[in-house]
Amino acid sequence: MKVRILLLSILFNGLNMIKDKNLKTYSTSDVVNYYQYLQQLQPAEETVIKLLRSELPNMKMLDLGVGGGRTTQHFFPLVKEYIGVDYSVDMIKACQERFSQSYPSIQLRVGDGRDLSQFEDNSFDFILFSFNGLDYISHEDRLKALQEISRVGKSGGYFFFSSHHLQAIEKEFNWRHHLSLNPFKTYVNLVMFAFLRGVNTSLTYRSIKHNNYAILRDESHNFRLRTYYIRASEQIKQLEPLFKDIKVYSWKTGLELTTNHNMVSCSDMWLYYLCRIK
Ligand SMILES: C[S@@+](CC[C@H](N)C(=O)[O-])C[C@H]1O[C@@H](n2cnc3c(N)ncnc32)[C@H](O)[C@@H]1O
Repeated sequence: MKVRILLLSILFNGLNMIKDKNLKTYSTSDVVNYYQYLQQLQPAEETVIKLLRSELPNMKMLDLGVGGGRTTQHFFPLVKEYIGVDYSVDMIKACQERFSQSYPSIQLRVGDGRDLSQFEDNSFDFILFSFNGLDYISHEDRLKALQEISRVGKSGGYFFFSSHHLQAIEKEFNWRHHLSLNPFKTYVNLVMFAFLRGVNTSLTYRSIKHNNYAILRDESHNFRLRTYYIRASEQIKQLEPLFKDIKVYSWKTGLELTTNHNMVSCSDMWLYYLCRIK
């Protein structure tokens, strides 16, 4: 039965990869290998572990977009029940390989954040979608995923995720930002700028400046991924119908950004959001 489910997932994944270029990238061996060896928590994740430490032992956790399991080794020992899910079969296989010895009871499943129908309503106390996993789907699908997360999460349960920060990438599209007194640095910066513009021909500094979100190809994994970037104020608005008590954190320092000024002036390429399901 298990083999049949795995074979069906592989077939389904193969068909999806034709349509979904990001899924294809997240299924290539170099990218899977990269995530399989990541270990460290990001500072904002450490902050949230400290914040929730006393509640985690009673929590059933869903680790969405678990990838190669970077967060698994930190959260699995702390929570009551842990389920890791990823839409890439290859990521799930890598994660199984990584943890089958150390955590034989671990539950790792293939699944898509846009359709969590394998889970009942009100199933989880804590849902994590870390390291920007939410950013690899379209705008409409992102809203669907947020609906699904709020459905499978318990009322009052936590949702913690990160998302790319449009404010931070905006200046990268302005050629003036790449000039420096050092001619070599200017040269390197302008080459990178040319790449960024070359792979994002429909976007300009001006168009980004006048939008609250954009999907673009950045340098991660050699410009292969289409990545959603959003302003913090817009992300908060997007969350508000379904989530409450929304807090924003710098990924680099792990500190909370408490004012709009803090968020706008933060140059982190992604920010973390902690909120509770309404
Ligand atoms: C940047 S990696 C992060 C992996 C892992 N969470 C970590 O922190 O190292 C993003 C992960 O999200 C997964 N992902 C992207 N979109 C997804 C979706 N719609 N449903 C489930 N997983 C998704 C990718 O396959 C990939 O493993």
